[in-house]
Amino acid sequence: MHDFHYRQDALHCEDLPLERLDKEQGTPCYIYSHATLIRHFQAFDQAFATIPHLVAFAIKANSNLAILRLMASQGSGADIVSGGELFRALRAGIPPDKIVFAGVGKRHQEIREALEAGILFFNVESSAELQTLNDVARAMGTQARVALRINPDIDPDTHPYIATGLKKSKFGIGADHAVETFHHAASLPGIRVVGVHAHIGSQLTHLSPFVESLQKVVVLIETLHTQGLPVQYLNIGGGLGITYSNETPPHPRAFAEAILPLLRQTRCEIILEPGRVIAGNAGILLTRVLYTKETGTKKFVIVDAAMNDLLRPSLYDAHHDIVPVRRLSHASEEVVDVVGPVCESGDFFARNRAMPQVKAGDLLAVMSAGAYGFTMASNYNSRPRVPEILVKGGDSCVIRARETFDDLVRGECIPDFLELGQAPPPSFPQ
Ligand code: LLP
Repeated sequence: MHDFHYRQDALHCEDLPLERLDKEQGTPCYIYSHATLIRHFQAFDQAFATIPHLVAFAIKANSNLAILRLMASQGSGADIVSGGELFRALRAGIPPDKIVFAGVGKRHQEIREALEAGILFFNVESSAELQTLNDVARAMGTQARVALRINPDIDPDTHPYIATGLKKSKFGIGADHAVETFHHAASLPGIRVVGVHAHIGSQLTHLSPFVESLQKVVVLIETLHTQGLPVQYLNIGGGLGITYSNETPPHPRAFAEAILPLLRQTRCEIILEPGRVIAGNAGILLTRVLYTKETGTKKFVIVDAAMNDLLRPSLYDAHHDIVPVRRLSHASEEVVDVVGPVCESGDFFARNRAMPQVKAGDLLAVMSAGAYGFTMASNYNSRPRVPEILVKGGDSCVIRARETFDDLVRGECIPDFLELGQAPPPSFPQ
């Protein structure tokens, strides 16, 4: 599954003891396994080997340039949602004709940049966006290739914040308007309709929502075909879940087996946008215990990483296993909250978690942090963002340096009228 394992009670990433990485780089830091990333990509890609397809890694899951270069080396494309992600994908060497651009709020400038780069197509989320794409493309004397994103109204049975294919969500075009929107799109001179897109949510651990969604999409593609609007591409999005604690998501092979018959029926080229299933279990967040504290009702383990480094527990109440880097056979278990130094009660990595007893100075690994970990990090509480390290065998490379205090204030300026020594502001009325 992944390449983080104990050797003589010391947690390693591939052949490298995490204790050594701590000595070299300090904590907190993100650590990714090269072998896991490659294996996960290949397992996913090979599962669809029998049909024409493109795996476009969802780079919102992990957008570090080195990780994207690794994906490019495996033949991956990119699913992007912003001009910034387009910049990263191109900078990392992902060919433009393997890039697809989703998102409900694309700005004119971002559309222009993507057209100039020559991306494969835009996943269009509304009629209003179609119009804008048409206008921008015509002004540039070109046509925009588009796939219309359909909202199939399927309950993906996942956390509500990451369910995207329900009627009430902001994503996609309602299935009941789909055919008329395709006709409208085909009538616009700046638009070339090439595909259908459907992404129903993330961290899906059952096959049935994928199958149900695709059944609807297949009917739509057949209808479009009979109405003289054949499509070349079907983009089925991402969403396949991973094991964080005791979930049992299908292996990519089982996922493929369940949907391949439907995909074949469409005779389309298939685009897949996996993110989490490739990167999630390929990374950890290494952190150090700063203090332990008992309050009468609770015991807290206070670590040096915080919600600004890994937001998932705070935002989704997500479970991440937390394991000691040095395993002690005689350690007794206790129930604790693992919390960070940020000034919010929501700053936790685990609550009421039974864990082996730890003390100040111990190293802990927050597991399954390779997707939506660093990419969702912030500088809240003026905490510099932590480094990212890629391990390959017994070697490691810092693929993003730890931020400095100067990085924190880069771009900020103090206007002249706030120069120290000027008259103080009027005092508040008493
Ligand atoms: N395609 C589209 C259009 C998406 O919106 C997403 C994820 C993906 C592909 C990739 O989905 P994946 O294979 O990674 O499930 N921050 C949340 C996850 C948000 C997912 C957003 N869209 C988390 O930490 O769980």
